Amino acid sequence: MKSLIPVGIAGLGHYVPERRLTNAELEKMVDTSDEWIVQRSGIRERRVAAEGELASEMGARAAQEALADAGVAPEDVDLVLCCTVTGDHLFPATACEIAHLIGAPHAGGWDIGAACSGFVVGAMTAAQFISTGAYRNVLVVGVEKLSAILDYTDRTTCVLFGDGAGAALFTDLDRAGRGEYLSGSSGMRGGNADVLSLPAGGTRFGTSFDTVEKRMHFVRMQGRQVYRFAVNTFAETAEKALAPYDRDELGLLVPHQVNLRIIESAAEQVGVPMDRIFVNIDRYGNTSAASVPLALYEARREGRMVDGKLVLCVAFGAGLTWGHVLFRW
Ligand code: ACO
Repeated sequence: MKSLIPVGIAGLGHYVPERRLTNAELEKMVDTSDEWIVQRSGIRERRVAAEGELASEMGARAAQEALADAGVAPEDVDLVLCCTVTGDHLFPATACEIAHLIGAPHAGGWDIGAACSGFVVGAMTAAQFISTGAYRNVLVVGVEKLSAILDYTDRTTCVLFGDGAGAALFTDLDRAGRGEYLSGSSGMRGGNADVLSLPAGGTRFGTSFDTVEKRMHFVRMQGRQVYRFAVNTFAETAEKALAPYDRDELGLLVPHQVNLRIIESAAEQVGVPMDRIFVNIDRYGNTSAASVPLALYEARREGRMVDGKLVLCVAFGAGLTWGHVLFRW
């Protein structure tokens, strides 16, 4: 549905921790190799939060940059949506902490736990509130501190993920002047907790000696199943989103940075050349809900957004969940 009040992106921000964890370092931690990681995933290094560095702090840094970019004061933020599965606490919401850290006393907000699809779902949610006139300035923050839930003795997962944050300030298009929101979608298929999850720490398996001993407080993933799901869902979601438009209108595809092989396979299925796809997974790994806003931020910084052309973001992740947001830049 087209917006009642057109919505745009007024500002983008990012934050990545200083510490780089290279494949060479991982070679010393688990039985892996730089060659294996690069060939299977395209990842060369990832960032890892400093000791004691909080997800809320990383999110707040990205949020502050997005606000400065938009020229919007924190006091004028109406809503903070924090997309994360690695928030500071199970509750309260990390959105509350971010609003506090950036000094946004008038903002409401909540967390969105759609895993790697989080930012896309958050952006779509923001657009609904702005288009109806309910809120004017909505800050969507994607942040993950995945290093806190990775088992650095499990080579099948620890090499793939990293920490970071990205943020976007959405407002009405007149004031934003760019990034017109055209459409969004969100899908999910439950019954897949065994495919990709953090098994314990929720109310199904609370914390106990047993859950700690069985290493159930770390990410578990069935890589091959995720791979198949991701390629097919990515391609289907992108095709549906682009169906109403001429393919030449696509300026840039900014996918969830899941795995270079997945991105390349899906791009081939959709028929989008790699020079119109933004990739930064080599430097950050998979940062889940932070990956799309971090990629959007860098794509704009590198001058990859083409005025008047479409920018398509597609994401998919645990749940299983998936979705897209489409903008005209
Ligand atoms: N280093 C070296 N060898 C490894 C590593 C590693 N880091 N990890 C696994 N292997 C081994 C396996 O143990 C296996 O050995 P075996 O044959 O002796 O049993 C062998 O490599 C092949 O394992 P597979 O799992 O079959 O490898 P595959 O080619 O499928 O690649 C990968 C694994 C990269 C995880 C792939 O399945 C994949 O890309 N899946 C998608 C998962 C993903 O990207 N998840 C991101 C999060 S999900 C999301 O964001 C939606």
